[in-house]
Amino acid sequence: MRHTRVKDLLNGTNILHEVNAKGWVRTFRNNQFIALNDGSTINNIQCVVNFENTPEETLKRITTGAAISVTGNLVESKGAGQKYEIQVTKLKILGDSDAEKFPMQPKKHSLEFLRENAHLRVRTNAFGAIMRIRSVLSFAVHNYFQQKGFVYVNTPIITGADAEGAGEMFQVTSLPLENLPKNEEGNIDYKKDFFGKHTNLTVSGQLEGETFAMALGQIYTFGPTFRAENSNTSRHLAEFWMIEPEVAFNNLDDNMDLAEDFIQFVIKYTMEKCPDDLKFLEGRLLEEEKSKPQAERSEMTLLEKLNFVLENNFKRVSYTEAIDILRDSTPNKKKKFQYIINEWGADLQSEHERYLVEKHFKSPVILFDYPANIKAFYMRLNEDGKTVRAMDILFPGIGEIVGGSQREERFDVLVEKMRVLGISEEELWWYLDTRRFGSAVHSGFGLGFERLVLFVTGMTNIRDVIPFPRTPQNADF
Ligand code: 4AD
Ligand code: MG
Repeated sequence: MRHTRVKDLLNGTNILHEVNAKGWVRTFRNNQFIALNDGSTINNIQCVVNFENTPEETLKRITTGAAISVTGNLVESKGAGQKYEIQVTKLKILGDSDAEKFPMQPKKHSLEFLRENAHLRVRTNAFGAIMRIRSVLSFAVHNYFQQKGFVYVNTPIITGADAEGAGEMFQVTSLPLENLPKNEEGNIDYKKDFFGKHTNLTVSGQLEGETFAMALGQIYTFGPTFRAENSNTSRHLAEFWMIEPEVAFNNLDDNMDLAEDFIQFVIKYTMEKCPDDLKFLEGRLLEEEKSKPQAERSEMTLLEKLNFVLENNFKRVSYTEAIDILRDSTPNKKKKFQYIINEWGADLQSEHERYLVEKHFKSPVILFDYPANIKAFYMRLNEDGKTVRAMDILFPGIGEIVGGSQREERFDVLVEKMRVLGISEEELWWYLDTRRFGSAVHSGFGLGFERLVLFVTGMTNIRDVIPFPRTPQNADF
């Protein structure tokens, strides 16, 4: 008999029929009650074993972590906590588990411990829930753009361009590191490298994405992104996934509208599809909050926070207004910020972003029109000559979740900017062609997928929302 997934069994459509279920034992109580989980849902199905008819040998092997197959009738349960259960008639151990050594014991483990066991942590309730939500969120991303007629573009992972001009890239090479070929000037001869040039893992698909937007109108990318920034924070990964839509003829306001609508859609979609997982994570977060001092506790539960984002427009505030607010803020005056805001032009740190969102506006915020010299080269220069049409979306508990802009579509202005910043025109000849041939106003943004998953799951460390995190000094698994 083909097995039925636990999620479907718990819907109770096969009631009073013989069913088969396969999964992993979470707990086994009183030599009688198995809580079986197969990953289809956070909920376990209770399997009632007739211990008088089951050999002692078999009973001993039903331990936490073991893989089993059970066959029996699906009936209404008299026990509290579940509606249906399986009255087991046949039980097969598919794979034993060394119960004493199994790291995922039915008790609370620290997140640090679970990170060291990332290959098994997905067998816990929390990580099962997080990973199912991650999957649904990524489907929601495609769903949103596909339904709006965006074209999904797979931009290259290996590239010669530094899209963000930040220089924090992982080099890709097949040259022998212990014996690098040198040219006549004594420099490394990249002509001998695999691609005949210096290449990196991409920090963004935007530049290639723009070329497609200037033909297909509206596109999006969704792929892995790599940054060798040595920031060991709870919001940075060296390998993360980014979603980058790019739209021809959109200005910055259209860009903000798109980003807001998109974020609200994917959150709403996930709330509809994952009620059990979210409810579990909400409870988890409440527990965690209890251990914090009163002042640091969140005023809202997880679901309240998600609903808040759906029901309220994001506050749109210019960089200049934000600086005024920050300069006059209590933590700035009392020198509580690590970086004191003195003047216009300062780059905002995550402490400032979070102050604006969590303390001042108490709402997601879109900051726009940043000083040109703290933003990337491709952003459109405003008439004032000193700010660019940039926008960052800031979220509570996260800080920056989206970075985007209206792009500089004027060839001369763009070339001049690249010249000032020392960005090679030769290297980016193809990017400049989009401004040579049929240039037009266009805009786009990048959403850090893991930061979105952080927000939706209420987790606080980005290492806990990606299956196998890559961070400085850590590439296990
Ligand atoms: O602000 P960023 O650097 O923007 C870009 O890369 C643009 N090319 C996007 C565009 O306009 N198409 O990065 C975009 C987002 C950030 O807001 C953040 O959410 C996420 O990517 N991000 C990271 N997430 C995890 N770990 C890191 N190291 C990240 N760096 C950026
Ligand atoms: Mg940014």
